[in-house]
Amino acid sequence: MASGANGSSGDTVLVTGGLGYIGSHACVALAEAGRRFVIVDNLANSSPRVLDRLQRIVGWRPDFVEADIGDGARMARVLREHRVGAVMHFAGSKAVGESVALPLDYYRNNVAGTLALLEAMRAQAVRRLIFSSSATVYAADNAMPLREDAALGASNPYGRSKLFVEHMLRDLQAAEPEWAIACLRYFNPVGAHPSALIGESPRGIPNNLVPYIAQVAVGRRERLSVFGGDYGTADGTGVRDYVHVLDVAEGHVAALRHLERAPGWVAVNLGTGQGVSVLEILREYERASGIPIPFQVVQRRPGDIAQCWAEVARARDLFAWRARRDLGEMCADSWRWQQANPDGYG
Ligand code: NAD
Ligand code: WQD
Repeated sequence: MASGANGSSGDTVLVTGGLGYIGSHACVALAEAGRRFVIVDNLANSSPRVLDRLQRIVGWRPDFVEADIGDGARMARVLREHRVGAVMHFAGSKAVGESVALPLDYYRNNVAGTLALLEAMRAQAVRRLIFSSSATVYAADNAMPLREDAALGASNPYGRSKLFVEHMLRDLQAAEPEWAIACLRYFNPVGAHPSALIGESPRGIPNNLVPYIAQVAVGRRERLSVFGGDYGTADGTGVRDYVHVLDVAEGHVAALRHLERAPGWVAVNLGTGQGVSVLEILREYERASGIPIPFQVVQRRPGDIAQCWAEVARARDLFAWRARRDLGEMCADSWRWQQANPDGYG
C-alpha cells in the first residue's frame, strides 16, 4: 500500500464517470498498468452493461458504486472503504448545446458536483486529482497551435463550468500546497478499444462528428451535414485535433505517475498536435469502413471556430506521453465498435 507524499493512505484510484466513454477506456489503461481502481457513476449518460464489457476486457469485475459525485458523504465513504489514494475525475455533463439551454444543470453537476467531491477528498486526506478539462476553455481568438498558456475564455456554460473548476483547483492547491492536481485539456477524443467491446454510445442524435459519421456508415443516419464549407482552412471545413481515446486514457496513467512524484497544479493538453478537417476525416472513415459517406455542406454551426489543435510539448516533457495512434487507427477502431454495436450499448 503506497503512502503518498500528500498524505493519502491508499493506492486505489477512484474513477468518477468510469462507465462513460473516456472513463471506461481509462479503466482499461489502469488495469493494463496494474493499478487497482473503483468506479463511481450515476448512470446519467452510460449503461451498466459497460461493467460487463470491462470485465471481458480486463479479466476480472471492477468494483463499481452507483452514486452521484454530489453526494459528499457517500464519496467520503467510497474514498475510505476503498483506500483511495488518487482520483481520476471524468464525471460530468458535456454537451455544449444542452448547456446553453440548461446552464444551472451544468453548473450544478460540473461545478457543485466537483466541489462536493473535493470536500470529501480533503476530509479523507486524498489530495491527488486528475480533472477532465477541455480545449473549450481556450478563448476563440488564439493562434494555433494552442499552448497551455494561451488566453482562456469559454464561450458557453459547459466550457465555463470546466474553466471554473480549473480555477477552483488552482486556488485549492495554492492554499494547500500538498495537493497534486493535473487539469488535462482533451481536444477531440475519438475511436474505441480494438476489442469493440467498449466505445462511444451517444444518446439520441450525436452532437460530435465521428459518432455521427459512424452512424451514417452503419446505416442509422442518411447523410452527414458538414457544418460550413467556407472557413479559412485548406478545404473550407472545420479543423480539429482528433486523438485516439486510448491515447487519452494512457495519458491519464502517465499524468498519475507524474502526480505521485510531484505535488502542484498543472494544465496539460492531450492531443496529437495535428489539425484535421471534416472532409479529411470523412475520407479516412470511408477508407476504414469501405463505405461511401454521403454528405451535404450546410450552414456553419453557431459557436464553432474554424480551427483548433494542440501544442503537445508539455505532455511530452512532464509525462513522457505523446499520442501514438494515427487517424487511420482512430477510424478503424471507431468503425469496428460501431459495426459490432449498431445501437451502442442499447
Ligand atoms: P460521458 O458522458 O461518456 O461520461 C461521463 C460519465 O459520467 C457518464 O458515465 C455519466 O453517467 C457520469 N456522470 C455524469 N454526471 C455524474 C455525477 N454527477 N455523478 C456520477 N457520475 C456522473 O462523457 P465522456 O466523453 O467520457 O467525457 C468524460 C469527461 O471528459 C467529461 O467531464 C467531459 O466533459 C470531458 N471531456 C470530454 C470530451 C469529449 O469529446 N468526449 C472532450 C473534452 C472533455
Ligand atoms: C468537430 C468538427 C464541426 C458534427 C466538441 C465540444 C468540446 C468537446 C469535443 C467536450 C467541427 C464539424 C460536427 C456534424 C460537422 N467536448 N461537425 N457535422 O465542436 O470540436 O468539440 O466536442 O468537452 O467541448 O465543443 O467537436 O465533433 O462536435 O465537431 O460538420 O454533424 O466537425 O463543425 O468543425 P468540437 P465536434
